[in-house]
Amino acid sequence: MSGDTINIALVGCGTVGGGVAHVLLAHADRVTQRAGRPLALRRVVVRDHAKLRDPIIPRDIISTDIADAIHDPNVHIVVELVGGLGIAKKVVLDALAAGKHVVTANKSLLADAGAEVFEAARRAERTVCFEAAVAGGVPVIRALGESLAANQVTAIQAILNGTSNFILTAMAERGMSYAAALAEAQRLGYAEADPTLDVDGSDAAHKLAILAQISFGVAARPHEIARQGIDTIDAMDIRFAYELGYTIKLLAEAWTGGHSHSTNGAKLSRGGAANAAHANGGPPTVALHVAPVLLRHTDLLAQVRGAYNAVLVYGDIVGETLYQGPGAGQMPTASSVVADLIDLGVGRAQRTFAAAKLWSHEGRGFTVEPPERVRSRFYLRLQVADRPGVLADITRILADEEISISSLVQHETEEGEPGASATGAVPLVIVTHYASTGKFRKALERINALSTTAAPAVFFSMGD
Ligand code: NAP
Ligand code: HSE
Repeated sequence: MSGDTINIALVGCGTVGGGVAHVLLAHADRVTQRAGRPLALRRVVVRDHAKLRDPIIPRDIISTDIADAIHDPNVHIVVELVGGLGIAKKVVLDALAAGKHVVTANKSLLADAGAEVFEAARRAERTVCFEAAVAGGVPVIRALGESLAANQVTAIQAILNGTSNFILTAMAERGMSYAAALAEAQRLGYAEADPTLDVDGSDAAHKLAILAQISFGVAARPHEIARQGIDTIDAMDIRFAYELGYTIKLLAEAWTGGHSHSTNGAKLSRGGAANAAHANGGPPTVALHVAPVLLRHTDLLAQVRGAYNAVLVYGDIVGETLYQGPGAGQMPTASSVVADLIDLGVGRAQRTFAAAKLWSHEGRGFTVEPPERVRSRFYLRLQVADRPGVLADITRILADEEISISSLVQHETEEGEPGASATGAVPLVIVTHYASTGKFRKALERINALSTTAAPAVFFSMGD
């Protein structure tokens, strides 16, 4: 980068881009002081030129011409805040080819095409920064890549989707409906352009893929990460979980064979299969998955509310560390993007990027564990006919798969009533002891096929 001033082209000026423009313009003195030289917002590219923008952005730097901004010889850094895989990927690759450093918050792009993007960056001898891509304003990329560099991470347990956490909190604490809570999350700027990605676990899986690359060197493609979203959770599940002493959270988790039980007792049994593989002298493995998990009310992650994210990282030297803060929204995300810009200005980011060799051929020997082998306790809710033999059929199927029942809840209905619902079916909640995911799924298939089961079973992992 030559000269004193660093010139920036911002491609995308919506929720996050608007925040970045505001910070660069409203806090120019602070940013200059931290970067050691001015960071000038030279160009802003949007889709709709007529849309009203923050009046602090000079009108004459706004355009709709992406190529013109990227190829401006005076621009040193391109910030991609369009999102998605189409235009965003072209912006990033074209910017690198044009010799610009890139800052992005685009987790779906990195999870899907990290190898291609980072190879292009290395070829062009340019840097890609992406602190905002995971956990919004929480500096977890730096923590994993820099501050914990002396460690081999052995497990990660994280709330990585602000929208889902916001919805679950609003349903549990304010009794809001799922649809109303999602609409509020969208209004507040937390959700993706396609909010399905938030609620079906895809967004958290994209972020987990990035954390897994940094921590274990595995290039897990998003479709290889087993995932279940919050879109199958009913208000009834939140109430049953509460009654049992648990809070439901959407967790992204990574468990390795090297994870030591001494760090955190009971929770780690959920990585049991991976531990067993490692103990048998096989290659180190990591199990990755995203799923709603029932956490005890007292668990640290159970207390993370609203659009906040939290990432628990277990390192073989440091032990357990926790990073928490706003995981979505305009200014928290802008905070991370501008930190990346400052790092590029100082010259730190270039050195870290070169040393990290992310998405390169230099892996760490880890392979991804099939989720079927992960062991967990399970919460299972069935809608069943309230008549003799139903419970016996279900417990027989569970026994056939060597799944033992830890507790069981069926609320009383009035004598003589056919059941609580119009179909005559009543909710039956079963909590199991530890079982392999594979065997549990087999049992589910058989339970769902019973003529006395009125609706597909709903199930979640237990966090203890
Ligand atoms: P957004 O509000 O939808 O903004 C997208 C921006 O891209 C808009 O300014 C839009 O222009 C512009 N754009 C779309 N298509 C374009 C095109 N063909 N040419 C030029 N500009 C185009 O999205 P966002 O919430 O800011 O998210 C941006 C990125 O940050 C995504 O990768 C997202 O995953 C990530 N992220 C978001 C959050 C969050 O809390 N929102 C947090 C962390 C990471 P117009 O303004 O003219 O429509
Ligand atoms: N839609 C994302 C979320 C934005 O809700 O967490 C932050 O990446």
